[in-house]
Amino acid sequence: MARNLFAPSAFKARDLCDTIRALADRLMEPSSNLEQSFSGRTILVGVCGGIAAYKCAEVVSALRQAGADVHVILTEAAQKFVSQLTFFALSGNAVHADLFAEGSAWDVAHISLVRKSDAFLVLNATANTLAKLAHGLADNLLTTCVLATRRPVLVAAAMNTAMLEAEPTQANIAALQERGFEFVEPGAGFLACGEVGDGRLADPQTILSATAGLLRRSQSLRGRRVVVTAGPTREFADPARFLSNPSSGRMGFALAIEARRRGADVTLISGPTQLPAPADLRFVPVTTASEMHAAVLEHLDGASLFIGAAAVADFRPADVSLDKVKKEGAATTMALSANPDIIADVAARRLPGCFVLGFAAETDDLEANARKKMEKKNLDCIVANDIGADLSSFGGSHTQATLLWPGGRREPLPRAPKKVVAGMLLDRITDALPGM
Ligand SMILES: Cc1cc2nc3c(=O)[nH]c(=O)nc-3n(C[C@H](O)[C@H](O)[C@H](O)COP(=O)(O)O)c2cc1C
Repeated sequence: MARNLFAPSAFKARDLCDTIRALADRLMEPSSNLEQSFSGRTILVGVCGGIAAYKCAEVVSALRQAGADVHVILTEAAQKFVSQLTFFALSGNAVHADLFAEGSAWDVAHISLVRKSDAFLVLNATANTLAKLAHGLADNLLTTCVLATRRPVLVAAAMNTAMLEAEPTQANIAALQERGFEFVEPGAGFLACGEVGDGRLADPQTILSATAGLLRRSQSLRGRRVVVTAGPTREFADPARFLSNPSSGRMGFALAIEARRRGADVTLISGPTQLPAPADLRFVPVTTASEMHAAVLEHLDGASLFIGAAAVADFRPADVSLDKVKKEGAATTMALSANPDIIADVAARRLPGCFVLGFAAETDDLEANARKKMEKKNLDCIVANDIGADLSSFGGSHTQATLLWPGGRREPLPRAPKKVVAGMLLDRITDALPGM
């Protein structure tokens, strides 16, 4: 059986496999950097009720030795396997377990612990807790605190192979990944249930290195201003009709949220979408290409990164009627005027030090057309998206993108949820930002 958290289920199996492979490489951090990674950091560790709960003690101890301030939350079931005393002794901090205890989640000091933490680890994550987290349940201290956190969350699951492969568990993992949770792939081997297979808690060293990678990424854009455009634009011909495209805005929103998670000061300028305005960033809703153009120029000052992920209409109706045009006697052709070229204008007007990333959605000659766009508009890099029938990413939740750089360099990325692709793109762009 393949050693893969997401492999066996028929449920979105291809997407899930792609996702975990894409994530596996970027989770790891060289162990030599660990002390540097953890010194002065506050880590919340949730431990769930499974047989591997004892191994979480080793993770807590290693985090503390590496310089982290570690605070542990145990579920009720976890306490059947391990004691609060063990984690108190290893972390050097009071251990939390009861949602309704005095000084618990509703105590201001406690919520502030959630806020001041740099990362949240959910260890020995059970099928039960994954299900609760995927559905936003908050019925114990651990699930309540995870729901309340805006910090990056890393999950290391552990369970019997059949539970891991069960369709609901796979769907819950997929849902959490969609929300930006990262997963450490579980190990394979002898399980406490007597079977041999996938589902063992990952090694403490693997969990530590994945946490270090998570922390590094969460700070990588601190002090940077990032401006992102997203979604379609609408170009009205009359109050009831407009020209537009199927862009959902998901890619741009995912990039803005990911940049925010990495510490950037983010402005997201978006055309009309079904997506809620993300928290903790400057959200500027617009409708037309001209409005988006004006908003971009207004917010560009001081930006170190501009990401043009919006699908901006190239043309708008030349004549706009204030009243709805009646069918009878209406013209069957429409005169069009060119819209401003937002990304070309940004590239032309940007101050030194601003990196410009464009997107090209193409149905044919993908890379050649994308390169042409990058060169013509003087972009620093471009993401080529195949919007052909097979791999349609326009409007969907997944995408397959290739990052193209001047000079012929190309980086094909695996097909994955847009939220995961956003992380992969920022991993690569961040190193190329001036002054990094
Ligand atoms: C001996 C024993 C071992 C268990 N091991 C696991 C496990 O490894 N993974 C898992 O998902 N559930 C395991 N369970 C079931 C969980 O303890 C149970 O679903 C519990 O409700 C989880 O609660 P929690 O998610 O709040 O920690 C085990 C149960 C027992 C009795």
